[in-house]
Amino acid sequence: MFDTPKREAAVTKTDIKMSARNCQVFYGDNQAIKDVDVDIDDKTVTAFIGPSGCGKSTFLRCLNRMNDTIPICRVEGTITLDGEDIYDPKVDPVQLRAKVGMVFQKPNPFPKSIYDNIAYGPRIHGLARSRAELDDIVEKSLRRGALWDEVKDRLHEPGTGLSGGQQQRLCIARAVATEPEVLLMDEPCSALDPIATAQVEELIDELKQNFSVVIVTHSMQQAARVSQKTAFFHLGNLVEYGETGQIFTNPRDPRTESYITGRIG
Ligand SMILES: Nc1ncnc2c1ncn2[C@@H]1O[C@H](COP(=O)(O)OP(=O)(O)OP(=O)(O)O)[C@@H](O)[C@H]1O
Ligand SMILES: [Mg+2]
Repeated sequence: MFDTPKREAAVTKTDIKMSARNCQVFYGDNQAIKDVDVDIDDKTVTAFIGPSGCGKSTFLRCLNRMNDTIPICRVEGTITLDGEDIYDPKVDPVQLRAKVGMVFQKPNPFPKSIYDNIAYGPRIHGLARSRAELDDIVEKSLRRGALWDEVKDRLHEPGTGLSGGQQQRLCIARAVATEPEVLLMDEPCSALDPIATAQVEELIDELKQNFSVVIVTHSMQQAARVSQKTAFFHLGNLVEYGETGQIFTNPRDPRTESYITGRIG
């Protein structure tokens, strides 16, 4: 497994935001990710696609060390952000997660008000100097999450009192409130109706002007609509990675072709 020469771990090219080299992930004795090498471009939307259980969420969680919170999970290999190893012992995972934010499939608002859900990150990272600045961040974030109009008159009610789709948009607004450099989204639209889905896709498009976005999706249409790069995972392997147009129209690997044409799923 280790006798093939590996590419350089440190990647310095400026248009690459994050890189993985020789990434392996194990849950106990089960290997969920096998030797993944990938470069995530800056100011780009990258889609992760593949059948259920192929390791998309597992690999996504490697990118902001969320797997650290799963005791039986072990991550090997090198993952860098702007060329720096994010698993270096001197990296604080909390600071890392402010730069590499995450939106989960299941909305997980804090048991706090709508306002405080959004204000939480900016407060702990000292992003606002006054209440007025914090108010501005809260409004701007809720607007970006396509939720402002629905909640502007109830900001001090609990976030958990919102509908499922509204809670998801709250979580997206919370994630963008700290201005992350990379936003990881794990099936962010699976609880949303088509209108909110379109709003979130618009937001993703806007975010890529400034950030990298990595989105896991089971919707080929969504991947084709929002992403510029697509990675196809299968049984823990990154089978194919390239321009979204090429992956969907001219896949090089027969496994990719079978998946996108609906023969494996
Ligand atoms: N917390 C965990 N403990 C043990 N095994 C896990 C854990 N999370 C994931 N796995 C295993 O790792 C493999 C990859 O799972 P993962 O959740 O990454 O897949 P996925 O591609 O995101 O699937 P889906 O599309 O269904 O969300 C699966 O075999 C799964 O059972
Ligand atoms: Mg998943």
